[in-house]
Amino acid sequence: MKFYDKIYAAEYDRRLSAEGYPGNLLDHVERELGGARRVIDVGAGTGFFAIPLAARGHYMEAIEPSMHMLDILKSKLDDETASRVRIHQSTWENWSGERADALVCLHSIYPMPDAGAAIEKMIRYADRRILLVRSDEGSRNLTGILREKTGMTRNPVAFFEGIVRSLRKLGVGYVASPVEQRRVTSFENLDDEAAYYCRHLGLADDRFEDVRRIIEEHAVRRGEVFEFEGVYRDIIVVF
Ligand SMILES: C[S@@+](CC[C@H](N)C(=O)[O-])C[C@H]1O[C@@H](n2cnc3c(N)ncnc32)[C@H](O)[C@@H]1O
Repeated sequence: MKFYDKIYAAEYDRRLSAEGYPGNLLDHVERELGGARRVIDVGAGTGFFAIPLAARGHYMEAIEPSMHMLDILKSKLDDETASRVRIHQSTWENWSGERADALVCLHSIYPMPDAGAAIEKMIRYADRRILLVRSDEGSRNLTGILREKTGMTRNPVAFFEGIVRSLRKLGVGYVASPVEQRRVTSFENLDDEAAYYCRHLGLADDRFEDVRRIIEEHAVRRGEVFEFEGVYRDIIVVF
């Protein structure tokens, strides 16, 4: 899995940090947590949520299978947050521990082989559960544009619908709210950006020039820098 790769983990953290992720998503998630003291973070990644939530006083159980994602998370801890983040290097499926007041799973359900079983386990392990999933409708970002323009076919991935089906099967009620983010990517070197997207999308070297041209056409040039504003539509599901 790409998150187990050291270079991918570093690139994930660097790119999202540069775009200001998680931005307003953090406040949305924290609002849903209410006063929860102990919070399980399923698929904590490099700590984009676990660390600021710890800084705001929550006691975080960060569950993450990738050693390289965790190395980056650890490098961001200071004395205060280190005392409130407990790290568990594990998949959600293999983890076991104490039940918590709340649980968050933020863009981390996608790699799980059995989302229904993962959701059922979330219900067993926390009183309040908050899932964040992307909605393909209305999102506009370079990944999507490049997929479309290079003719990559992709089945629409209905994560939200799958979650709703699982919750209905379990007889559990939920509240779903859309949340939109705009994030600006800036870059100076078109070649590096094209090389990144070729890697990210698994495109062969002979597509490099096409990818470079498409990025150039869609980005806005400001002096030496190119900028692209992406629109990301997500859904917060509380159950
Ligand atoms: C897209 S990242 C999201 C990370 C973080 N929540 C964030 O918003 O930045 C997905 C994370 O889920 C982790 N992951 C993959 N399979 C997992 C599993 N079975 N159980 C828990 N986490 C998993 C990956 O290693 C990765 O760090």
